[in-house]
Parts: sequence; C-alpha cells; structure tokens
Amino acid sequence: MERALTDGIERVVIGAEAIARRVRELGSQISEEYRTGAAKDPRGRPLLVVGILKGAMPFMADLVRAMDFPLEYDFMAVSSYGNGTSPGEVRILKDLDCAIGGRDVLIVEDIVDTGHTLQHLLAGLSARGPASLRVCTLLDKPHRREVEVPVDYVGFVLPENLFVVGYGLDYAEVYRNLPFVGVLKPECVREA
Ligand code: PRP
Repeated sequence: MERALTDGIERVVIGAEAIARRVRELGSQISEEYRTGAAKDPRGRPLLVVGILKGAMPFMADLVRAMDFPLEYDFMAVSSYGNGTSPGEVRILKDLDCAIGGRDVLIVEDIVDTGHTLQHLLAGLSARGPASLRVCTLLDKPHRREVEVPVDYVGFVLPENLFVVGYGLDYAEVYRNLPFVGVLKPECVREA
C-alpha cells in the first residue's frame, strides 16, 4: 500500500516557513560577520563551508544560498554512533578534498546533541591549522551535551528532549526529505 511520508508524523515542531525565515537570518548574519571581521585568511581566500553528511545536506543547500559573498563548499562524512542510540567511535568516512591550512572554515551541522561528533571534527580540523574555524548548526540540544563544544550559530534550540526527524534528520535513514522538522508517531518508531 502506498504511504505518504507525512503519514508517520505526529506533529510538526518547526515548520518549513519558520526554517526558511531562520535560514535567511543566519545567512545574513554570517555574511555580515565574514564581511566585517570573522574572515582571517591572510591570503583572502573564500570561506570554505563544510557540510557534515548526511544530515546537513538540506540545511547546507539553503544556507549557502542565503549567504551573499564568495565562498567554496565541501563535505565530510562521519559515523558518530556505534549502535544507533549511544555515542560510540567517531570515524571519518569522507574527508575534505582540499587542505585548509590558513583558510577560514565554517562547519555546518544539522544538529548538535552530545557534542561528541563536533568535538572530534573540531579537534581534527583545528590540527590542520585553519585561519578560523566556526560552527553553524540548524538545531541544538544543549541539555544533552556530554562534552563542551563551541557553537557559533544556532538556528533553533530544541526546548525538550525530543527525537526529531526531517529537513535532513533521519530515523533509520528515512524522513530526511521532509521539508519541516517533526516528531514521529510512536507506532512508526516501532515499525521503522
Ligand atoms: C548526527 C548529526 C551530527 C551528530 C550529532 O549525525 O548530523 O553529526 O549526529 O550528534 P552528537 O552531538 O551526539 O555527536 P548521524 O551520525 O546521525 O549521521 P547523519 O548525519 O548521516 O544522520
């Protein structure tokens, strides 16, 4: 039987319009700041925006189009969880194509949760000697943090300990293509 993707959703937490508005705000703020001081590359090379696959893809695609200055982008893929529910080894599955020594770098994430993934990424990328290294995440769950990590730009703080899907976030790899962020029906969590 055919099923619509939204059939599995109990409620929308952040709607598509609210996401679009916030992405435009973040794009303007980041553009303003990099034009007036955040950029540190002595050679003046464009900002490198680094999307963390797979979750950051929709946010990153919208965010870079809301940024009004020359930039480059690339992607990294990491596996952050050992068994799907608790933090495990953080491994790099796909690395950057270029060196970042002396360059301005902005990491783009869909969500910062325990902070383990970001901590690992920041340590690894800092060691390569970028001129500056900042972080932008669509969603932040600060109350879930197990390690302290600096986050420079946050789209939305999730007020409760919600498990959300959509706009890049998955449950068992599904629901990433929802245009909003929402909560699954309990029966769909069991089914999937
Ligand atoms: C998610 C998210 C972050 C990480 C955050 O990735 O994209 O990278 O978890 O969690 P943490 O702060 O507890 O480390 P996930 O490993 O689910 O991969 P995905 O982006 O491919 O969905």
